[in-house]
Amino acid sequence: MSKIPVVIDCDPGIDDSIAIIMLAGSDKVDIKAITTTHGNVGLEGTTKNALALREFLGLDCLVAKGAAKPMIVPLKNASEIHGANGLAGFELPQPQGTFEKDAAWDVMYNLAKKENGEMVLVVLGPMTNVALTILKYPDFKKYVKRIYMMGGSRLYGNHSPTAEFNIWGDPHACQVVLKSGIPVTMADLYFTYDNAVTGAEMKEIYSHAKKLKPMMDAFIAHDMKFAESVGADFDSHRIAICDSSAAAALLLDGDSLVTEDYYVVCETQSSENEGQTVFDYKGHLKGQTNVQLCISVDKEKYQGLIRDAVAHFE
Ligand code: RIB
Repeated sequence: MSKIPVVIDCDPGIDDSIAIIMLAGSDKVDIKAITTTHGNVGLEGTTKNALALREFLGLDCLVAKGAAKPMIVPLKNASEIHGANGLAGFELPQPQGTFEKDAAWDVMYNLAKKENGEMVLVVLGPMTNVALTILKYPDFKKYVKRIYMMGGSRLYGNHSPTAEFNIWGDPHACQVVLKSGIPVTMADLYFTYDNAVTGAEMKEIYSHAKKLKPMMDAFIAHDMKFAESVGADFDSHRIAICDSSAAAALLLDGDSLVTEDYYVVCETQSSENEGQTVFDYKGHLKGQTNVQLCISVDKEKYQGLIRDAVAHFE
């Protein structure tokens, strides 16, 4: 069976890194490029991390640098969650390679055109790069088979009362994507929480790791330290590893992934609810379905994806 061509647009990022490991460790996908954006840490940091991950994992793919800031709202970051360097302070070997001279939106478009409509985008950060590609290249949408995104929330947010960080980071970009007509599978915050694991469960999942162990240990230790700082305790605290749920949605689509179809818009006007993904459950807006919302996935299979990907790199 031919591999799915994929571009990963991300802001690595602890959970972005785990999602990249899952996708790179799967024989289902062929990663054509990792494109970077502002988000967890600034663009320079996310790009350095993407270059370092590419070489550490031995990936044969392009790295292309994208947007340094959102389309309209002020720039934000999540360095309190991911550490100042975006990787929980873990230092990967200094990358030797560099990023493409073309910007992420040009690379994404050119790669998608080559795949004759089979290209899948896995979007793990603010959606600025994808929105800019859609706006710069009106025919881009016909070359994208589906977007699997980590972002949004069917109820409360994690960085504002109603907004999840990636969408809060660039609500206008999310609105452009939701209005584009490109099919979207959304791994929202709720779905990622449903897949969360305890620190002990995560350590068991990668217990066979050698090459990846130091990095994974650093990620878990950092998450636990953050959890303790907000009053959680090691045994009960569950780690959502948000972006890994978007990777799992792609890898388990047509297997155990359960989704529900909705018309979704993004709030861009309200100061309190900017970045909220509004699900039109009762059809009041009479909009056409534009999102497949991830409802559930087989937990064993989800955790097995991480386990197997770790083994792939040993
Ligand atoms: O809200 C979770 C999302 O925000 C994840 O993509 C994480 O990497 C952060 O960017």
